[in-house]
Amino acid sequence: MERQMLRAAMEQLKAIGELETCGVEVDPKFELGAVLKYFKNEKPILFNRVKGSQMPVVGGLFGKRETYYHMMDTNPQERIFKFMNAIANPQPTKLLTDAPVQENIITRNIDLQKIMPIPTFHEEDSSSFITSGVVVVKDPETGQRHTSVRRLQINGKNQMSILVASPLATNQFLSSEAKNKPLEVAIILGYDAHFLLASQISSETYGVDKYEVDSALRGEPLELVKCHSIDLEVPAYAEIVIEGIMPPNKREIEGPFGELMGYYGAIAPHPIVEVTCVTHRNNAIFQTAFPCREEHLSNGLIREVELYTSLNKLVKVKDVNVTVSGGCRFHAVASIHKKYEGDGKSAIIGALASSKDVKHVVIVDDDVDIYSPDEIEWAIATRVQASKDLVIIPDALGSGLEPSHGLRGVTDKLGIDATKPLGDISKKFERAIIPEYEEINIEKYFPGMKK
Ligand SMILES: Cc1cc2nc3c(=O)[nH]c(=O)nc-3n(C[C@H](O)[C@H](O)[C@H](O)COP(=O)(O)O)c2cc1C
Repeated sequence: MERQMLRAAMEQLKAIGELETCGVEVDPKFELGAVLKYFKNEKPILFNRVKGSQMPVVGGLFGKRETYYHMMDTNPQERIFKFMNAIANPQPTKLLTDAPVQENIITRNIDLQKIMPIPTFHEEDSSSFITSGVVVVKDPETGQRHTSVRRLQINGKNQMSILVASPLATNQFLSSEAKNKPLEVAIILGYDAHFLLASQISSETYGVDKYEVDSALRGEPLELVKCHSIDLEVPAYAEIVIEGIMPPNKREIEGPFGELMGYYGAIAPHPIVEVTCVTHRNNAIFQTAFPCREEHLSNGLIREVELYTSLNKLVKVKDVNVTVSGGCRFHAVASIHKKYEGDGKSAIIGALASSKDVKHVVIVDDDVDIYSPDEIEWAIATRVQASKDLVIIPDALGSGLEPSHGLRGVTDKLGIDATKPLGDISKKFERAIIPEYEEINIEKYFPGMKK
């Protein structure tokens, strides 16, 4: 029984019948991604026969909320507090001397595309891309570790471009560069839900060692091993580790790439990684993520912690949802236990202030299911008066990851207060229900029929 990383995650998925296997040969150019996209990246799929490679590929592992909760041993009610607790109470990791991820060590004639089947996803993509690699670096000033998912464009046999968007991570490279020194970097493939979730914590907001947050999340030390060619630690049970350096003063053009919201992102020069070594397990499995929004669920789950915290200072929150169709960052929905008139508007302020990326937010009462687009639309249709309930903030700073924003460099923000008024008038908003039969068990009438 594997306990940590990809093989443990796959065993968990198999046990609940969630891991699909594809035995038909697929081409890593377009075809493999198309199969993942068909299932909106919500179905974990192991591709056993990938054209041109002996190495299987697994994808779509972490795109479904319910499955994610299961893999993290949590549930909708407790997940935010579990994540908060781990961020606030990081736990030690454990360093091993030998590790499965170093069963094979390649230091010469490295050719990434020959070692592993790296997919190409969209028509205009500039190359094949590693989309799910967790990148680890150490801050050259403080020695603090920093992990996050960054996409990597394959430039040649042993060179990649790396897209680093967050300011703090960029600073680590820039401060090495200012001293004309390379920054050591390792790219980890083949991990589990805990490791991915921890990697998505914002360093600017929390400043914690994400490996230690991972240990807290999984309830046991994350087991690590020293890299072969550089001074970094990586998970002992990962499938593949690409070790390398980011040399100073070198950039390569990156993109186009069909990214998060289904559009091609900007073409721009980005730092590169020169690969010094690849290590991998015996019978390694390559992990990928189709670069569409579903795979960003882990990022959204962490944003929900921030949203909850920000709202909870102002109102009594029931639950929050940073939606998948809103790219797990642009759209927020929150249900609140409304106590005072004005709570709806306060919640809008809290939500928009929780992250610069939140663009549109809907606030609903605690009787509305915030995971049901139908229910949210119903609340907007029946509890909103546009002249009073819309809050529009023109020209604020937003995320550059959607084109309407990119046109002007700033974005409008919108809050919709879809809560009902308090007092006597609230009677008008009571839902009509069928006594005793509202939650009907349909199997009683049609045996075997599921909802
Ligand atoms: C599948 C996936 C792909 C991502 N790709 C990138 C990327 O290419 N570049 C980037 O800067 N952030 C990317 N992110 C988001 C970062 O990983 C995330 O914002 C980061 O962990 C924040 O950590 P930081 O504040 O320590 O930088 C991606 C996230 C996921 C889940």
